[in-house]
Amino acid sequence: MTQGLADVDFSGKRAFVRVDFNVPLEDGVIGDDTRIAAALPTIQHILNAGGAVICASHLGRPGGEIVEELRMAPVAARLQELLGEEIAVKACPEVVGEIADAMASACKPGEVLLLENLRFEPGETKNDASLAEKLASYADVFVQDAFGTCHRSHASTVGVPARLQPAVAGLLVDKELKAFEKAMGNPAKPVLAIVGGAKVSDKMLLLENLIEKVNTILIGGGMAYTFLKALNQGVGKSLVEEDRVETAKRVWEKAKQNGVDILLPVDHLAAKSFEPNTDVKVVNGDVPEQRMGLDIGPVTREAYTAAIRNAGTVVWNGPMGVFEMDAFSHGTSAIALALAESNCVSIVGGGDSVAAIKRNGVQDRMTHISTGGGAFLELLEGKALPGITALQA
Ligand code: 3PG
Repeated sequence: MTQGLADVDFSGKRAFVRVDFNVPLEDGVIGDDTRIAAALPTIQHILNAGGAVICASHLGRPGGEIVEELRMAPVAARLQELLGEEIAVKACPEVVGEIADAMASACKPGEVLLLENLRFEPGETKNDASLAEKLASYADVFVQDAFGTCHRSHASTVGVPARLQPAVAGLLVDKELKAFEKAMGNPAKPVLAIVGGAKVSDKMLLLENLIEKVNTILIGGGMAYTFLKALNQGVGKSLVEEDRVETAKRVWEKAKQNGVDILLPVDHLAAKSFEPNTDVKVVNGDVPEQRMGLDIGPVTREAYTAAIRNAGTVVWNGPMGVFEMDAFSHGTSAIALALAESNCVSIVGGGDSVAAIKRNGVQDRMTHISTGGGAFLELLEGKALPGITALQA
């Protein structure tokens, strides 16, 4: 049983809070601060309870060395803005070392210290014992609030909680796990999963697990064409993973045996080449030889949105087409809008699906939008997340 913030007396204590501040950053400008905002309730809870907060996150993949563009300074500045001026947020220029030692021991109740990018240290991704030991020495309590990183067995996600107890879940992790439980534990029926994205190979485990749990699966995106090929349909020049055609057939058969309906696109936005401004045609059934399907067509959109209207619970991961090109974003946007209009429990995770929700301005109309990409997917695949298991040890 995982403990939470309510199980800890933070008064006069220092908490090491693992957060996921891995936000999109370009030229020092943060593109989307959702992940920083999502950690505020935990930070505020600890401060209000009389504790000091030492936050740590990775940013990008610097590969164990200092990369100037991946310093945490812009993130610290945004955190300061979000928390307000009355709370002092200090940015530490290193992860561990003499300066970090001094700043961590000087961090007082009511204050926040943000350590430098954890992945500047080569030991972070290797779950190095001495790095974990050092980080653990900075605090009295470990709080895991980096849901998006809980699928990684790194020093800060599993090494520190092995050495620093109590080790508890933060409010964001708690919210994410509860939302997942609501969708997959004892869900309102019928349960619908919408799975998209380019490749079947990326979603194989997910599909196999979903077949055990849901009533219907809607498939879109490039991966649909491997399924259509498996069913002997014409796919033209569409993306097909030839080495997965047999697997797709197996998944199709298994779904049938389990009484799960898999819906595939029946019409397509088909282009002659993979380009934004290209000659696009709606085609029904087989995709012609010289064309490729890059989005679901209007009849499929209608069928998929009707399924959403009738669902009790919908879990969505992955786009229905080449969402980054406007011409092929209609299917993905239609899903976002249908979810917004539906009364179902809606749980969404993954970069493109979440981007589609935000682009259509309907983020407040979802039951839950996960801050996790890979972590969300692994939970849906039925895997245990090491960053959560580490709290129960
Ligand atoms: C994410 O963005 O999914 C998490 O922050 C994990 O990042 P990673 O894939 O680089 O481990």
